Amino acid sequence: MLKTIPNIEAYPKTILLRDDTQVEMRPLTNDDKTRLLEFFMRIPEDDRFYLRENVASPEAIHEWTENLRFERVFPIIALAGDTIVADATLHGSRAPARSHVAEIRIVVDPDFRQVGLGGRLMRELLDIAHEMGLYAATMELVEEREISALIAAESIGFRRVATLPNRIKDTWGSYQSLVLLEIELEDHDSWWF
Ligand SMILES: CC(C)(COP(=O)(O)OP(=O)(O)OC[C@H]1O[C@@H](n2cnc3c(N)ncnc32)[C@H](O)[C@@H]1OP(=O)(O)O)[C@@H](O)C(=O)NCCC(=O)NCCS
Repeated sequence: MLKTIPNIEAYPKTILLRDDTQVEMRPLTNDDKTRLLEFFMRIPEDDRFYLRENVASPEAIHEWTENLRFERVFPIIALAGDTIVADATLHGSRAPARSHVAEIRIVVDPDFRQVGLGGRLMRELLDIAHEMGLYAATMELVEEREISALIAAESIGFRRVATLPNRIKDTWGSYQSLVLLEIELEDHDSWWF
């Protein structure tokens, strides 16, 4: 369970990407249903296959946007004009024994990758988790299939803490390892510098 989101009044925030594109970053609202589904439909099937949720399902998108509970999941989207170009979520745990750790999940539109957007959104969620006083953030990534995400996470300071062999079955039916990455949140400067 996440506590109240700190500085929520600071949104929307405008950010400038490395290619000089300007995007706006703000929490998801229940008006975003259609544009969120359109966003996920633009994500290649190969990427979508390994995500934790069936993001191509209109029912799933309906459920998320209708039942926004920021204390459970805090979703930030990035928009270019009226089009969603990235979605990043911070997932808390309801169990008191696990409530000091939150998980980050992130997807960026292929046309907006490798210009700093994914890293910026990860840092935004790390800032929020840090301000909430959480101990650590985690990511779960498929070793041979989510390579960009592994590079991005490790370049921010996430480190591999466990590997679960054969936890994932890939699109060809072969087993792949799931990597658990973690970053401790005490030192805010560590993910900005
Ligand atoms: C992972 C993902 C979110 C990265 O988004 P992005 O906007 O391209 O990330 P950035 O441009 O901010 O890059 C962050 C860092 O990773 C590096 N990086 C990202 N993609 C890379 C690639 N394909 N090859 C090499 N390096 C890469 C960047 O160089 C950058 O490093 P730096 O900060 O040292 O310069 C994006 O590739 C994606 O949506 N992938 C599919 C979904 C996914 O796998 N999500 C993870 C599951 S939760």
